[in-house]
Amino acid sequence: MLSEKIKKALNDQIEKEGYAAQLYLAMASWTETKGYDGISDWFYAQHMEEIEHMLKIIKYVNERGSHAIVPKIEQPPKEFDGIKQIFEAALEHEQMVTHSINDIVGLCLEEKDYSTHNWIQWFVDEQLEEESSVNAILDKLEMLGDKNIYIFDRDIMKMRGEE
Ligand code: FEO
Repeated sequence: MLSEKIKKALNDQIEKEGYAAQLYLAMASWTETKGYDGISDWFYAQHMEEIEHMLKIIKYVNERGSHAIVPKIEQPPKEFDGIKQIFEAALEHEQMVTHSINDIVGLCLEEKDYSTHNWIQWFVDEQLEEESSVNAILDKLEMLGDKNIYIFDRDIMKMRGEE
């Protein structure tokens, strides 16, 4: 059985992963309407990953004899300012999620919940990977400049293979 504090933190994290899924879906939809098919595919794939993150936590909470609550999720923005700005927003969001995962790691130690501490290491690694992949995209965008965005759009899905 999870402690009340861990249960609450994990249920809050379910909501954060759910919001991340919605946010990336909104980004996928917006970029698709602007004709950026590659970037849009990248965000659709990211959306699916966030759904998996959310499910992973739901399953874990229930396996530990607690009850994972399916949250109401806030509507993400409908419009974005541009391609560079959208990835900056994605990075900012991932940094917030990393912070939140780190807080849970700290809470696990406080509560002496070593099983959850062990289990959540997967998310610690995943956050490192997610932040570094968005950072790599921002570096590439910087290198290519606005005029070459179509090359970036064509190649972005190959970057997933490099992760
Ligand atoms: Fe599940 Fe991208 O944080």
